[in-house]
Amino acid sequence: MVVFQVSRKETTPFDGQKPGTSGLRKKVSVFIKPNYLHNFVQSTFNALSADKVKGATIVVSGDGRYFSKDAIQIIIKMAAANGVRRVWVGQNGLLSTPAVSAVIRERVGADGSKASGAFILTASHNPGGPHEDFGIKYNMENGGPAPETITDKIYANTKTIKEYLIAEDLPDVDISAVGVTHFNGPEGDFDVDVFDSTNDYVKLMRAIFDFESIRKLLVSPKFTFCYDALNGVAGIYAKRIFVEELGAKESSLINCIPKEDFGGGHPDPNLTYAKELVTRMGLGKSSPQDEPPEFGAAADGDADRNMILGKRFFVTPSDSVAIIAANAVEAIPYFASGLKGVARSMPTSAALDVVAKNLGLKFFEVPTGWKFFGNLMDAGLCSICGEESFGTGSDHIREKDGIWAVLAWLSILAYKNKNNFNGEKLVTVEDIVVQHWATYGRHYYTRYDYENVDAAAAKELMAYLVNLQSSLSDVNKIVKEIRTDVSNVVQADEFEYKDPVDGSISKHQGIRYLFEDGSRLVFRLSGTGSEGATIRLYIEQYEKDSSKTQRNSQEALAPLVDVALKLSKMQEFTGRSAPTVIT
Ligand code: G6P
Ligand code: ZN
Repeated sequence: MVVFQVSRKETTPFDGQKPGTSGLRKKVSVFIKPNYLHNFVQSTFNALSADKVKGATIVVSGDGRYFSKDAIQIIIKMAAANGVRRVWVGQNGLLSTPAVSAVIRERVGADGSKASGAFILTASHNPGGPHEDFGIKYNMENGGPAPETITDKIYANTKTIKEYLIAEDLPDVDISAVGVTHFNGPEGDFDVDVFDSTNDYVKLMRAIFDFESIRKLLVSPKFTFCYDALNGVAGIYAKRIFVEELGAKESSLINCIPKEDFGGGHPDPNLTYAKELVTRMGLGKSSPQDEPPEFGAAADGDADRNMILGKRFFVTPSDSVAIIAANAVEAIPYFASGLKGVARSMPTSAALDVVAKNLGLKFFEVPTGWKFFGNLMDAGLCSICGEESFGTGSDHIREKDGIWAVLAWLSILAYKNKNNFNGEKLVTVEDIVVQHWATYGRHYYTRYDYENVDAAAAKELMAYLVNLQSSLSDVNKIVKEIRTDVSNVVQADEFEYKDPVDGSISKHQGIRYLFEDGSRLVFRLSGTGSEGATIRLYIEQYEKDSSKTQRNSQEALAPLVDVALKLSKMQEFTGRSAPTVIT
């Protein structure tokens, strides 16, 4: 057995190691600076209570992006030096973010050990490669991202750090092969356990969904399916679950081999970046070569996000969570005994609110960021939740879950078609959505993103909008000068949230303009970019009249878009005449 020593290395702080909405994300060129990663990892260990480090089991893995393999070896050596007892690593360093959450909550080691936390190496949907982004975040014992009390401590530690601990002579561990490597250090045994990246997650999915009924759908000659992992980590789960477990054809999978640079693409599942899938589904500028599949879906780099598509049909994430919630009890065995409650983030459309009201469910509106859902779930208040930013999930883990969302949709399709496999035509994704609108009304919805805007200009725009809110009558005057065909603004504020579980208050969570007819304009600065600022503008309009729910969304929203852009003086502040991305 290899015996290692512990070295104390002197270091000095780096500026800007403040974890954002989902951990610390920077260019690879920043992360590879000597001691940069080391400082953050040591600051994290120092922020955790001793029992979560000394003698503890921690998970280290991620979406496989460039620099992950080096980072894993560094973290293993630092974990050993800090007295961690075991490090669990997914084979090849791969674990999706939801799989990490599942592993923390469900996996039991051969010796009965359980993990107390995880370093997740990902920058989610940001591009990867030597010139792109790397990221690291810490998840806690409940499987969810560290709360602000911890991330604040981590940040404070990064500002004062003087030394870190590392077992420099610990040889690199072969993370490509499953198996346990034993070491011995000053504080006793230290093991690195490399395990299959998919087993624990697949087991959990099998316990939630009725795989038999989904299989019937996937093997039906009438059903066609396409899944795009955008060369992120979702590929390994897609192959295992959709193909090996559920009988989908191998050719249903595109970009399902994880790559360090995501094949040069932007691994974000939306209509702009998931180009290949969008074209195949008949939603691109050029017509597809073949008849589009009935169902298509995509994931982001770390597989927590999802996009759901039907043939020539886009399901907005806000509609998706509402539809899953409306059908969950019938279609998904895990929810058979009812939903504890549902939740959405503030900028997400109110489609879920209407379902909650109709079904008499507890409902919560939280700030952007999955951690707010985690608190509700830990308290048993929420079963299903989702965000406009292509995140959907449930209390089976404490992260959003891209593959889960696809399985949820497949379950609903399987349920709606259960007596129909021999019929003329299957009930389609579009049928389900249109039927949902007919029952609950439709929330027309769009989001405009202005990426990499000058940070000072973005702040000024936000300050201007807050200032404007002091007089509603002034706001309405401006609005009416822009358009007369929108209703009155009846409330304007900055969203603030009091967590019903721990009482904590989160301020400045986005600027809202609420209209009399239920329409909303929301302005927020993204918390996940790594360069400049990203302004997000969310535009929503509710239509109850079922004869008017099938309009073109951009057309229906045009008056509100006009108001939003002129009211905010978007072009004046940012110099941009058009958004970078529209979803
Ligand atoms: C991450 C979080 C989500 C959040 C999203 C917002 O994906 O996990 O919970 O909705 O970031 O990103 P933004 O860039 O809008 O702050
Ligand atoms: Zn992600």
